Amino acid sequence: MTTFYEKAGGELFFSDLVSRFYANVAVDPILRPMYPDTDMKAAARRLQLFLEQYWGGPTTYSDERGHPRLRMRHGGFHIDGAARDAWIACMKNAVDGMEIDPEIKVELWKYLQSAAIHLVNQPD
Ligand code: HEM
Repeated sequence: MTTFYEKAGGELFFSDLVSRFYANVAVDPILRPMYPDTDMKAAARRLQLFLEQYWGGPTTYSDERGHPRLRMRHGGFHIDGAARDAWIACMKNAVDGMEIDPEIKVELWKYLQSAAIHLVNQPD
């Protein structure tokens, strides 16, 4: 059985997606201050490994970090509607800049958007 991870293009696809996303985060006035001053590479790697694992690729994320528990891991960040929308906009711009099979794109986007909505932890 072919996994979504493979259909999307494997590691190259996810590294491309995540590097585009972080290029947007790096200049986003709401998101940038939430990340370490200098090096966002470690955060980018965690997101890439998480997404690869989520879509049926290697389980390196959990080998290194344990169960994802994304809501818990985001508990320390102030994620209101504006932060959610900023995250979604950075990701939308990344996804739209890539050539992706339309079916893959729909499924990927549905997940990313609903995951972001689920991680909101502050009222507006
Ligand atoms: C809703 C808006 C979001 C904001 C503001 C946000 C912000 C952050 C921040 C500041 C970090 C810490 C950076 C680091 O890893 O050192 C982080 C980590 C992470 N985020 Fe998000 N995030 C959001 C949504 C999402 C979504 C939708 C996903 C998954 C689809 C995600 C996946 C992750 C992962 C996997 C980590 C690393 C967790 C770990 O292993 O410690 N985030 N996020």
